[in-house]
Amino acid sequence: GREPLLKGKKVLVTAGPTRERIDPVRFLTNFSSGKMGYAIAEAAAELGAETVLISGPVSLPAPPGVKRIFVESAEEMLQAVKAEFSDSDFVIKTAAVADYRPKSVHGQKMKKQEGDSSIELERTSDILQYLGSQKDSQVLIGFAAETNDVSHYAKNKLERKNADYIIANDVTESQAGFESETNRVTVFGKADFEKSFEMLPKQELARKLLRLIIEREMPNDR
Ligand code: PMT
Repeated sequence: GREPLLKGKKVLVTAGPTRERIDPVRFLTNFSSGKMGYAIAEAAAELGAETVLISGPVSLPAPPGVKRIFVESAEEMLQAVKAEFSDSDFVIKTAAVADYRPKSVHGQKMKKQEGDSSIELERTSDILQYLGSQKDSQVLIGFAAETNDVSHYAKNKLERKNADYIIANDVTESQAGFESETNRVTVFGKADFEKSFEMLPKQELARKLLRLIIEREMPNDR
């Protein structure tokens, strides 16, 4: 069997997209399938962690031994994360959270009208940034989906959001990032730590990512 390296630890994972409502039948979202985040939750539970998975709307089954909490919007995800954060040891934010939401949600289905239309958007809360400002002993790990200058933006996010690691995927690469069964990432950490992984099935990558974090953050427990 596997050594339960994370026994006694609590791992909080977010996964999937958020939905930001426009009216009762329409919303803004993105292509996140939840696969990467669910793979991380599954790997954490396999390693013996108490694992909480805060998930946007996806159609995946909850991994064995994982407590799943469904949310819809960025705001609901923030509230759910806040409730689970303080006693967590590792927080891994794989979710693709909407950066904007419609400024007002129409109570009735919007009707077609003559000519063009537009929707005014406002910023959502940045959950990762909030956690970065609140954290004490938690190891905070964000993901970054970038299309250009991956390393530059990832290092910038690490600093700005006070995260311990940013796991960057170049989402322009086919078979990496959103929806695919595989992913290719580079992990950035403090003091210029940088490690690239080859293209791997998301399950296998998830196990390797957790092993890396454990090796660096819990050197005495191995
Ligand atoms: O779900 P899959 O189909 O398997 O795809 C996986 C993935 C591509 C979604 C995943 O690997 C990934 O990259 N997730 C982060 C996507 C993203 O939204 O990145 P970002 O650069 O917009 O955000 C950076 C970090 O801040 C993320 O950890 C995000 O969870 C967090 N964030 C962003 C906005 C916001 N309002 N609050 C946040 O906490």
